[in-house]
Amino acid sequence: MNSEQIVSRAKEIQPWIVGIRRQLHQQPELMYEEFETSKLVQSTLDELGIEYQSDLAITGVLGTIGNGNGPCVALRADMDALPIHEQADVDFKSEIDGKMHACGHDCHTAMLLGAARLLKENEDLIQGTVKLIFQPAEEGGAGGEKMSDEGVLENPQVQRIFGLHVSADLPTGTLAARAGTLLAAASSLKIVVHGKGGHAAMPHKSIDPVSTAAKIVVELQTIISRELDPLQSGVISVTMMHGGHAYNVIPPSMELQGTIRSLTLDGLQHLQTRIKTVAEAIAAANQCAAEVSFPGNDYPPTLNDELSWAAGRAATEEVLGEGRVIEMPPVMGGEDFAFYTQRVPGCFAFLGVGNPELGATYSVHHPMFKVDEEALPYGAAIHVNCALRTLDELR
Ligand code: NI
Repeated sequence: MNSEQIVSRAKEIQPWIVGIRRQLHQQPELMYEEFETSKLVQSTLDELGIEYQSDLAITGVLGTIGNGNGPCVALRADMDALPIHEQADVDFKSEIDGKMHACGHDCHTAMLLGAARLLKENEDLIQGTVKLIFQPAEEGGAGGEKMSDEGVLENPQVQRIFGLHVSADLPTGTLAARAGTLLAAASSLKIVVHGKGGHAAMPHKSIDPVSTAAKIVVELQTIISRELDPLQSGVISVTMMHGGHAYNVIPPSMELQGTIRSLTLDGLQHLQTRIKTVAEAIAAANQCAAEVSFPGNDYPPTLNDELSWAAGRAATEEVLGEGRVIEMPPVMGGEDFAFYTQRVPGCFAFLGVGNPELGATYSVHHPMFKVDEEALPYGAAIHVNCALRTLDELR
């Protein structure tokens, strides 16, 4: 099957792909609760006659197409939604208050099912194995790590893995990525500053955690501006400051939360060490105590292997046309696809779903986020072409 045939068949099944996407969009489920989403994936694979394993990392599904032996390529989609109340004006709006597919994972799942259908129709052409990974909990739950721990990259061993993420910052019909580091290592940050509460008119009888917390927020920025090599990238963003309930009461404690980013895991660990030292020292200098932690899962940086990007790029150009693939600089977003590329070579890329005429201009995680569904068959076709080309190359 050549790339033209792949694209035209993907366009033929566009209504089917879009139907699945809209069904998922109306019923968003948060991380590790993707039970109905997982059931829909499984029933679709059943209809297509594709074998799969379910209940991996709670709701994950691993489909297999081909002869069950090597060479082996994996394609990955994530299934979880976000705790955001949808404000987009679409007639298949989220039916669950406070939950929304605002990161497009509904599109990722539907595009991979589209690819599954095309690959199954041409299974006789597959000399090797294509694994279809439907994972839970990309949004901070490290679902990719759990799926890897449960062995989805083994038996047969995955030699290359590909993943797509929709982006309304790119126009439909384009794709962007790069070789090397594409996305940052990420960690969350929590600091509790303990002081001593009391009457706000008599500060000398209290130990004020509010002014101490404010100093910590400001001082953390100098780790980036004064300690980091200016040619290295790092981010410390304090995004929440909570404390106090009355205008005339000094609260006993303040809580800060935020996120840290670096383009390397070493860089991330360095920032964590320095944040702990700086916050504890400022607290001590102000007679407070700081409790510093980095809750949740640290995400490694997403590294695109050079050969995988070359293969992905060539396969995408065949689908979208010359000049439609963009080399982009790294960005400080995090992505748990990184857990796969820690173990096997692979490539992650952004698929354009932006279209100002449709209002598909908002970035992911925005309550007005919208996609141009014309891009979905392209995503399915890119998956298929990447898999088939790579299997040919690996043979
Ligand atoms: Ni996402």
